[in-house]
Formats: sequence, C-alpha cells, structure tokens
Amino acid sequence: PKILFIEHNGKEHLVDAEDGKSVMQTAVENMVPGIVGDCGGACSCATCHGYVDPAWQDKIPPKGETEEMMLDGAMNVEPNSRLTCQILMKAELDGLVVRLPASQF
Ligand code: FES
Repeated sequence: PKILFIEHNGKEHLVDAEDGKSVMQTAVENMVPGIVGDCGGACSCATCHGYVDPAWQDKIPPKGETEEMMLDGAMNVEPNSRLTCQILMKAELDGLVVRLPASQF
C-alpha cells in the first residue's frame, strides 16, 4: 500500500509501505521530514503526530487511551490528529493521506 505524506509546506511524498508496518516507521524509513518517532513506536513520545485526511478517518482504528493521553500533551492538535505509530498499514489503506504538522515539538 502507498501513503501520501504532505509536509506543512505542501511538499508531497508518495511512499510504498509494507503491510503491518506503522505509518511512523514507513515515514522514518523513507526519510519523510516531519515525523520523528523518538520512542520507536511505543506511544510515549508524540513526535509522530500527523493529521489523517478526513476521508480516511473512518477507515483506521480509533484512538487508544494512551494515544489520547499523549495527544493531549502534543502541539497543534486537531480533531483528525493521530499518532502515526499507532496506525498499521494494510492493503485497505492504500492511498492513505497524512498531513504533517509544522513541528513535532
Ligand atoms: Fe512515539 Fe509514536 S513514535 S508516540
């Protein structure tokens, strides 16, 4: 499946994702700027914050409790904010669009 990352400045990165890998891991491995992923996907750093395109919001699993908590402390949170380490890729998510915040800190 492919993921389209859109940086805050509008620059687009269309990357191939592997099934079962998180959106965060995919971004880091493809050197997409804007996703840091400090904690390696343990849902404890919130530096993998991204905005899931509204068209995709219903297709990904809802936020977990820890994710909600971490997002509470993150910057520039919007209703479609997610921690991208908590979204695992699968074929059904081909074409997923994730916008990136101006900064993770
Ligand atoms: Fe740390 Fe997602 S990588 S919360």
